[in-house]
Amino acid sequence: MCNLEGKVAVVTGSTGGIGKDIVKALAGEKIKLVLAGRRQEKLQELKNEFGGKTEILTITCDVTKKDNLKNLISKTSGVFSGIDILINGAGVSSQHPFWNQPIEDIEKMIWTNYYSYVALTRMVVPIMKQNKFGHIINITSGSVMVDPPPRNFIVYTSLKVALRAFAKGLFWEMRDFGIKVTSIFPGVTSTPLTGKLKNISEERLIQPRAVADTVVFALRQPANVCPIELAVINQQTPWTKPVIPFKQEHPQK
Ligand SMILES: NC(=O)c1ccc[n+]([C@@H]2O[C@H](COP(=O)([O-])OP(=O)(O)OC[C@H]3O[C@@H](n4cnc5c(N)ncnc54)[C@H](OP(=O)(O)O)[C@@H]3O)[C@@H](O)[C@H]2O)c1
Repeated sequence: MCNLEGKVAVVTGSTGGIGKDIVKALAGEKIKLVLAGRRQEKLQELKNEFGGKTEILTITCDVTKKDNLKNLISKTSGVFSGIDILINGAGVSSQHPFWNQPIEDIEKMIWTNYYSYVALTRMVVPIMKQNKFGHIINITSGSVMVDPPPRNFIVYTSLKVALRAFAKGLFWEMRDFGIKVTSIFPGVTSTPLTGKLKNISEERLIQPRAVADTVVFALRQPANVCPIELAVINQQTPWTKPVIPFKQEHPQK
């Protein structure tokens, strides 16, 4: 088992529903935490709640902005001697039939859910490579296992599919440097993000704790073991049905 105490982890999406449980779980492992998010007051709340368990640095960061990402890494490097773990968890959602999905939503998803993951990884890899140690964990989505991508979620899902492909390729490139890459596919989880979805019943949801436990499982594996992909989904997920009930008349009717 990998000893996690004292390792340094940068976490994006730390202020969200899944992120908060990840922070709690990592603090419990005594991992030093660098928490990124746009809402300073939420970051401070996390520091107040979990700062007694481990060292926590909070950095205000909009992950869609390259200079904010650079600042996150340079400030982290100024305080800690390395970065051992990167948890990419920031994310936004937008449910619409594609034909009337706001372009602004599409841009936001591209920059938050795909660009920030790849760009931050690119910035962190040289540091991990130098230390010959690292673990990059992407919070992807269970929707990548639904083919074709679910209605109303095709941009969100296709970006997650791209992220999955990126991480699989990255695994092969990174393994010789002692860096692990893991994609986690949560099913529909009870968080503010799904609070915006309609018609999701409680029994279809999983709790964020299940995702956080999966992150810790991945991190704890021995040096020669890398869980490349871990799906954590509701046992009752109805794969054959769309995520959101959706009626569409045939145009010729
Ligand atoms: N909930 C689900 O059912 C589900 C299922 C599969 C996958 N996921 C994925 O899990 C991840 C977390 O989702 P969640 O359900 O926990 O969502 P959430 O509760 O809405 O949290 C979203 C997080 O992303 C951060 N974020 C969004 N835009 C950002 C930006 N521009 N810059 C910096 N941080 C930003 C938010 O931080 P601030 O607002 O504080 O900046 C917040 O911490 C996402 O990648 C999501 O796609 C969720």
